[in-house]
Amino acid sequence: MYGTVGSLAACFIVTFRMLATSAWIATYIVLALFAFVMVSGYLHRRSAGRVTSTASMKGKTVIITGASAGIGKEAARDIARRGARVILACRNLKKARDVAENIELSTGNSQVLVRQLDTSSLTSVRNFAAKILAEEPRLDVLALNAGIGGEADLILTEDGLELTMATNHFGHFLLANLLLGLLKKSSPSRIVVTASMAHKFLKTLDLKNLIYENGDYGSFRAYCQSKSCNILFARHLAEMLKGTGVVVNALCPGFVATEIFTKSSGFMIGKLFKVFVPLSSRTEEQGAQTIVHLAVSEEGADISGKVFEDCKVSRKAASIVQDTGLAKKVWEASEEYVKLKPEERLY
Ligand SMILES: NC(=O)c1ccc[n+]([C@@H]2O[C@H](COP(=O)([O-])OP(=O)(O)OC[C@H]3O[C@@H](n4cnc5c(N)ncnc54)[C@H](OP(=O)(O)O)[C@@H]3O)[C@@H](O)[C@H]2O)c1
Repeated sequence: MYGTVGSLAACFIVTFRMLATSAWIATYIVLALFAFVMVSGYLHRRSAGRVTSTASMKGKTVIITGASAGIGKEAARDIARRGARVILACRNLKKARDVAENIELSTGNSQVLVRQLDTSSLTSVRNFAAKILAEEPRLDVLALNAGIGGEADLILTEDGLELTMATNHFGHFLLANLLLGLLKKSSPSRIVVTASMAHKFLKTLDLKNLIYENGDYGSFRAYCQSKSCNILFARHLAEMLKGTGVVVNALCPGFVATEIFTKSSGFMIGKLFKVFVPLSSRTEEQGAQTIVHLAVSEEGADISGKVFEDCKVSRKAASIVQDTGLAKKVWEASEEYVKLKPEERLY
């Protein structure tokens, strides 16, 4: 009997020691992860570029898509502070009007307008462009910034396009084409495209499956592909617009704590991730810096067809987006997907 009790006690002690050791190991791992996130977040914020240009934007008209939140909202605020007429091109009018009011109050600029635009709908893009062409005599900067992070399941839009590609790429591709005449008339003028370092995760681009008709859909893949197409289309457009006075550049804003991480179902990696995002990321204002740099600086007027990061030309862009042949093919495929009409080809 004493032997059995002794064995049970020994088992209990060994199990307790193992559990205690595992708890310590788990605690060390969590603390190390936490420290890593804090340090990398600090370094990422510290390395964020800052706009040095003090250029005034008085007399200039700037359109920013997706300016009701995040990076686009803060870019709009900075550019409004410089005196431009700023048009917030947004899908949620109530939210955008609140932002416009807030920007007007903080900058003292009363020329902050809101116009309806849903970049995932080709009809909405055409209606928006028609309104701009009817109302605006000039356009100096077109900032194509609206974006979503990708939905968990494949969603098709009313035009039969995959939602992430439609929102992030096809809508902007069509909009740039429709406003090209006005941009050329107002030259020197600029197109600024918000892409992402996520393009680096895309290894191949299947031009026959850009909207996942043949399967292979994944939310992260859709996001990375849409951001690669942002850069490829900007590169090809820059090439075609050489000598017109219209420059086109793309940019990667860094990792920024915005609503994008909570709005798109494919981006919601979990509650733990939501805690880590603000710790490891830049502020919205920091994220907006490279858009503002490209929209207002002297350098932004001279360079075309490049990818920027931290207010300078990036050396980290992946080889897939440097492929000029692929850029042309993406352009041609996009013309088909948005059913670009002959009279809409203004390049
Ligand atoms: N945050 C990052 O770490 C990060 C990193 C790299 C690149 N980016 C890029 O930065 C851009 C801005 O994102 P963010 O981080 O600032 O996210 P955000 O705070 O969610 O802002 C996205 C903006 O796009 C708008 N939008 C979404 N779908 C739209 C549609 N169908 N039509 C019109 N507007 C639409 C949103 O409108 P609502 O307010 O109505 O939702 C919002 O104004 C995106 O292109 C994103 O890919 C972000």
